Amino acid sequence: MNKIIFSLILAITSINSALAATGNVEAGKTKAATCAACHGANGIGASEAFPNLAGQHADYIVKQLKAFKAGTRVDPVMAPMAAGLSEQDMADVGAYFASLNRSGAAAVAEGGSESAGQTAAAPVAHVPNASAGKSLYELGDPSRNIGACIGCHGKEGNSEVLIYPNLAKQHSQYIEKQLHDFKATTRINFAMNQFAGAMTDEDIADMGAYLADTQAVANVKVKRVTPAAIITEEAIAGKAKAAMCASCHGADGNSLVAMYPKLAGQNAEYLTKQLQEFKSGVRKDPVMAGMVAALSEQDMTDLGAYFASQKPTAGNGSTSTLGQQLYFGGDASRKITACVACHGASGKGMAKAGFPAVANQSVEYLTAQLTKFKTKARDNDRNSMMRNIAKRLKKNDIEALTQFMSSMK
Ligand code: HEC
Ligand code: HEC
Ligand code: HEC
Ligand code: HEC
Repeated sequence: MNKIIFSLILAITSINSALAATGNVEAGKTKAATCAACHGANGIGASEAFPNLAGQHADYIVKQLKAFKAGTRVDPVMAPMAAGLSEQDMADVGAYFASLNRSGAAAVAEGGSESAGQTAAAPVAHVPNASAGKSLYELGDPSRNIGACIGCHGKEGNSEVLIYPNLAKQHSQYIEKQLHDFKATTRINFAMNQFAGAMTDEDIADMGAYLADTQAVANVKVKRVTPAAIITEEAIAGKAKAAMCASCHGADGNSLVAMYPKLAGQNAEYLTKQLQEFKSGVRKDPVMAGMVAALSEQDMTDLGAYFASQKPTAGNGSTSTLGQQLYFGGDASRKITACVACHGASGKGMAKAGFPAVANQSVEYLTAQLTKFKTKARDNDRNSMMRNIAKRLKKNDIEALTQFMSSMK
């Protein structure tokens, strides 16, 4: 199953490499002279801030250079560097750095403590734990929607897929900066924004320590880390306000009546958006309109946070082969986009992007919503994202999909 998902994600995100220029190692070596000041003559970054490029996949290097040039990956230092490079130059330096060996990289497992400019640790600083980093790397954390890094970046950070960067023997400070950038969405990649977005600062430090020297903990057995549930102030305030919702949605957001949607475990941003739109009339429902009329913006944020923090119970669907196929593969001949692209491999949606969870929801409610999107009775989806898909679904597709989604956990 994992294989299918990853090849799908790959198919969605991979660039059209058939059109790419072929790189020449010798030409690349000459052109890389200007890069040596920071990335080292041997492709090993001169300091913690400069990533190692030695042994990195050429395709990945080219993709990053294009992104720096186009400004889709924002970095003030690299932008001018990439601006002067032609496609051929990029292919050449990519081929050159890929041909170098990274094994000469110094392992800095202590969280970058040897780098200049690093000030004394804060009083209760977290001590990076490479073993915890390894566990998160290999197992991910389904409870927080963090995919296992190993699935894309390979065993011990050596990825076999050319578009997924090698992470092994990379400076920990650089790894941490990238994860923080993905988290803050100043660097954009769908999958990485989601995973890094759910990682705590401690997780990120642990990951940096692990990737700087994977060998140091080669013999450590991985175990699942379960962080304490994050209970925010909003969630506490929301609980009090949720009393009036209980009759239909259940006290903990697990409604007992199938036509009333489950709210437990739904993404907070999505919930808040729905409440705002019931209030403004952008999403039309006579029952909910009355419920939200008196809610303030703060109430809606609190309610979203509260229900998001609750645990959903299992849905009432049974698994369906057709549903599973459509969910993970879509149907290109009918222009149906695979649901996995937005609702995620485990049906948990993508919180940051405002894509709702569909797992554990009741078959009846899911059916009602797909039908409303199909007939345009519900039209609050940005850019008609759902209407364009739902209009192509036949009755039996909807039956199969709703059974499958409801059975997802
Ligand atoms: C003045 C220093 C400097 C020079 C010179 C420089 N770079 Fe960089 N490079 C950086 C920094 C800093 C980053 C990390 C940016 C970030 O944090 O996102 C970077 C990142 C990169 C990355 C992305 C690596 C990754 O793992 O995603 C590539 C590829 C790259 N540089 C290639 C080059 C090439 C090719 C040249 C020469 C044409 C070059 N750089 C010259 C400072 C430099
Ligand atoms: C679905 C596949 C996938 C999974 C799973 C995944 N990544 Fe990534 N990761 C990517 C892709 C693709 C990129 C390159 C993004 C780009 O082109 O800018 C990337 C980039 C990165 C980078 C930046 C590397 C560099 O050289 O700049 C880091 C660090 C990283 N990932 C860490 C992780 C960690 C830690 C995990 C697990 C919590 C993880 N990734 C899980 C696909 C994935
Ligand atoms: C009388 C029953 C009832 C009460 C009480 C009620 N709701 Fe609802 N709620 C519904 C129904 C029915 C729907 C489905 C509307 C539709 O089909 O589009 C719904 C939908 C929702 C949705 C959209 C869920 C999704 O997955 O898109 C949210 C969010 C929501 N309600 C929150 C609340 C909150 C918060 C309260 C309390 C302030 C509340 N509801 C009180 C009946 C109720
Ligand atoms: C391009 C992204 C995208 C794709 C692909 C996609 N969806 Fe959605 N879906 C959304 C968004 C965004 C919403 C929420 C719209 C809103 O803000 O109210 C949504 C909402 C839904 C809902 C209503 C959830 C609720 O709680 O009310 C269902 C059911 C659903 N999608 C099913 C599917 C199915 C089945 C597929 C595949 C056939 C699919 N989606 C593909 C983006 C997508």
